[in-house]
Amino acid sequence: MLQAITSFKQKTSGLVMSKSIFIKKMFNDISPWYDTLNDVLSLSTHRWWKRAFVQKVMSTEHQRILDCATGTGDIAFLMEKKSEASIVAIDFSEKMIQYAQGRAKKNKSNVQFSVDDISRLTFADKSFDAVTVSFGIRNVEEVEKGLKELSRVSRNIYILEFGQPKNWLISKIYFTSLKLYFPLFSLFSGRSDAYEYLIQSSQTFPSGDGFIELLKKNTTFQHFKYTPLFFGVVYIYQASNEAI
Ligand SMILES: C[S@@+](CC[C@H](N)C(=O)[O-])C[C@H]1O[C@@H](n2cnc3c(N)ncnc32)[C@H](O)[C@@H]1O
Repeated sequence: MLQAITSFKQKTSGLVMSKSIFIKKMFNDISPWYDTLNDVLSLSTHRWWKRAFVQKVMSTEHQRILDCATGTGDIAFLMEKKSEASIVAIDFSEKMIQYAQGRAKKNKSNVQFSVDDISRLTFADKSFDAVTVSFGIRNVEEVEKGLKELSRVSRNIYILEFGQPKNWLISKIYFTSLKLYFPLFSLFSGRSDAYEYLIQSSQTFPSGDGFIELLKKNTTFQHFKYTPLFFGVVYIYQASNEAI
């Protein structure tokens, strides 16, 4: 299954582009609408998921935190509000980072934003106490390489990601209702392929035990845990050398 995800190719104007180029272009294109679309498509539940995620991260004290695939910076700003930690945040979409930097300036935030790629991070080994990734890991072309990088630069990993509800009926209702938003997304963003991608990747990306297996294979940690939220529509994953 993972191979199918990593070898994902997208056809645009007759050209076949790598998943990474497609994803970066997609987020650059939808960046002006990203925050609004998040609120509309999730009926603002993403805010609740993100608060629950940050609460989990903050349940252990961390001095230095890296937020990867930060997008417009939601998780980085929430963590800054809730802790004294110094926070660095990266994303490979220049436009998303520009938005995040605009928000930081407006809110007098000290979060340090920069453009960087999860698969080849420019930070020293174990230079962070914790690394967070919210709704970003399933978009990374080389997931295994990305996980290795997260484990190289940090002592703890926290990941928030969509998954598949275990209950068949809830899964059916959830994925069918997602499709109802299709025209709305296309209208706002002009990128119907982006929404197709969102649904397809949420349906197929490994979740629960499947994702824990990926963490075990590609990180150096000894303890792993996952917590399903909202019937398993979303999962929080943790990896650490300390008991969790
Ligand atoms: C769905 S958004 C999530 C943004 C934010 N973390 C949130 O929770 O709202 C996914 C983000 O992952 C970023 N991304 C995807 N692949 C990446 C990579 N290899 N390195 C860094 N960022 C990446 C995209 O540019 C995009 O901003």
